[in-house]
Formats: sequence, structure tokens, C-alpha cells
Amino acid sequence: MIIDLLTDSGTGAMSRDQWAGIQRGDESYAGSPSWFRFRDAVQKLFPFRHVIPTHQGRAAEKILFSVIAGPGKVVPNNSHFDTTRANVEVTGAEAIDLTPPRKPGELLPFKGDLDVDALERVISERGAESIPVVFMTITNNSNGGQPVSLANLRAVREICDRHGLPLFLDACRFAENAWFIRTREPGYESTPIPDIVREMAALADGMTMSAKKDGLANIGGWLALNDDGLAERCREVLILTEGFPTYGGLAGRDLEAIAQGLEEVVDEDYLRYRIRSTAYLGEALVASGVPVLQPIGGHAVYLDARALLPHIPPLEYPGQSLACALYVEGGIRGCEIGTVMFGQRPDGTEAPGPMDLVRLAIPRRTYTQSHIDYVIEVVRSVAERAADLRGLRIVDAPRSLRHFTARFAPLSS
Ligand code: F0G
Repeated sequence: MIIDLLTDSGTGAMSRDQWAGIQRGDESYAGSPSWFRFRDAVQKLFPFRHVIPTHQGRAAEKILFSVIAGPGKVVPNNSHFDTTRANVEVTGAEAIDLTPPRKPGELLPFKGDLDVDALERVISERGAESIPVVFMTITNNSNGGQPVSLANLRAVREICDRHGLPLFLDACRFAENAWFIRTREPGYESTPIPDIVREMAALADGMTMSAKKDGLANIGGWLALNDDGLAERCREVLILTEGFPTYGGLAGRDLEAIAQGLEEVVDEDYLRYRIRSTAYLGEALVASGVPVLQPIGGHAVYLDARALLPHIPPLEYPGQSLACALYVEGGIRGCEIGTVMFGQRPDGTEAPGPMDLVRLAIPRRTYTQSHIDYVIEVVRSVAERAADLRGLRIVDAPRSLRHFTARFAPLSS
């Protein structure tokens, strides 16, 4: 492999000051100074009363949903990430996505927003008592790394208030989301990024977080919330599954790296470079006529494999076929987000996913412009011979979350 665009999760380069933090990490079991530095850095941006450290985002999800979800419950979200959905569903609850269907090329500034009318409908049909929490994923990863506006967060908050429902953020890419608010939402042009983050936090009752994204760290996460009773119950699960409340699933040195990362990630120069460099890849592909999801998201460019490979039907996995072709052609590893990921039904049958995309996720502070120029060349060259690509069949797959481990074989015609 030459360029790894499988994920932006934990794959970024840490800064000098983060590595210095790694050296300073204090490994006391309870009450380490590194814990206080971590907690303060989290609360500076997200002033929730309780901060519960975890080894990564899905551990925070697992703890929260094991306490509040269960059979008969419903969790609405703009778009669940796959581990979030799985952690809801494993409790017997239902995970509902409420991002309105959009065309891949539709240019909207906040394409990650939740459909508030659909949320009202879910609440009136299912009853507020069946909804333990409403979630907002910022940015909206499953829908193209698209941002959510403060106006939409406010509208969702208002609905939650009216029905007495808590609102939580899945805040993995909160800084990228804040940058889009600053550059696209009227009235925020000169608001400092940390203030925008605090404004998002003030609209919520809690959050789950993967520090492997906008924590700029290789590992880590947290659950943060205001409700004392709920925090107590979550900490009980934390001690069973992750560790003592002042380190969760992390080493003291990891807590230091995250604390430092949280200071760096809200830096305007960093964010300008980050969002521009993702857009650089996307815009070059658009200019070459390669179909991509637009506008370009924060952490990734999403190739529209269904549009590029119209001769491959969704159940022959055009996204997977394109991902394989990029790897064979240029050693570039991307990730299918389409029928392989979303097409499997609980009864074992299959249906096309809403889109067939290939995500090229950009690790933070890792690749240079010349690496990305190489990616552009390889994608162009594969796109030029798109008609030669063939579909795939699955030879081996688990019963759920098949995209992590399924094996494929090429179809001959
Ligand atoms: N929520 C969102 C929106 C995510 O993108 C991820 C991870 C998680 C939760 C889970 O966090 O990995 O720390 O357990 N997304 C990675 C990705 C894996 O490639 O998009 P985690």
C-alpha cells in the first residue's frame, strides 16, 4: 500500500507538544495529574458536569446505550455511524436516521442537518416516552462528512425541550463542523472557533466522542453529560468494562496527548489547512469529471461509484469494485460506504444501500500535497477505464457488520 485513506480515525500525525505530553504522562491509577489536564481540556470546550474517559468512541456509545436503551426504545439521529447504530440495536432498540434524502451533487451548505419535521413525526408516532435520547452527529460522517448548522441544532433543541427529551452530540468531528459554521452560517464569520464549539455544546445535554478524530490522538474518547444520576450509572458500567473513572480505558500519556490535541484542533490556521486540503482533492476530481458527493466534506472525499459505474448493479457492489480498483492500480486504500455496508437486512436478505460511495478519508497532518496529487492521478486513471470494471460477489460474510470482514470474488462478466 502507498497511501492509506481507509479512515481518518487515529491515523493522524501527533504534534511535537503532543509527544511531549506522552513523555509527561502520569500513570497513577487514581487521580493522575494527566486526568485533570484531560478533564479540564474537555470541559473548556464542552462544559458538561461529568466527563467519563473511554478507550474510544464506541466504548462511550456502548456504555450510554446499555444504560438508557433497550427493547421498545427508539433513538433518532441525523445519521448513525455504523458502530453507533450497532450499539443501539444490540440493546434491542431501534436506530432511526433522519437526514433527508439528497442527490449526491446537490450543493447545500449544511447537508448534514436533521429533518426536523421527520423528528416531530417520529416523536408523535412512537411517543416521547420511547425515546431515551435524540442524537446529532457532527459532522455527519455516513452522509458525506457534511456539517450541521447551529440553526438546525437550535431547532432540534427546541423540539427536544417541548417533549422533555435529552439531546446528545456524537461530536467526533466537532472542530471541522465549527469551521463550516464559521465559514458558511451567517453571523459567525468572526466568531472564534472555541466559542462556536461551546455554543454547540450549550445546546446539548451530553456527548459521545472519539478522540481519534478531532482529539488529534491515536486512541481515546469520552462520554460527557450533565445528568448526575445517569452519570453515576454510566460510571458503574465504566468500572466494569473500561477502568477507574479517572482513566477509563486509557493510559495517562494518552490523556495528555488528547488534552494537547484539543487545544490544537481549534486553531484557525490548522482548520483552514485541514478543510482546504480535503477540498483540494475533491475539487480536482470534480474538475476531471469524476462524480463525487458535493459539497466536499470535512474529513473525506466520497466518490459516487453508482454514477461512475452504472453498468454494475448495486447488488454487485460498485463501491467495493471501485475501492479494489484504486488499490490494484495505485496502492490507495479507501473504504466502501454503500450496499456492502448498508445492504444487509436482519433477516439475511439484501437490498441496495441508499448510495454506493467510496470514501477517501484524509488522516490529519499526515500526507503532503504531492501525495494527494498522486491520488488524483490514480483516481483519474481508474475513472477513464471505468467501463472495464466488473462487479463482485460475496464469498464469505458474518451475520452483521459484514463490511468489516466480508470476502469477495470478482464476477467474470
Ligand atoms: N461516531 C462517528 C461519527 C464516527 O465516525 C466514529 C468512527 C465513531 C462514532 C466511533 O468512534 O472509532 O473511536 O470507536 N469512525 C471511524 C471512521 C472508524 O472511519 O469513520 P471509534
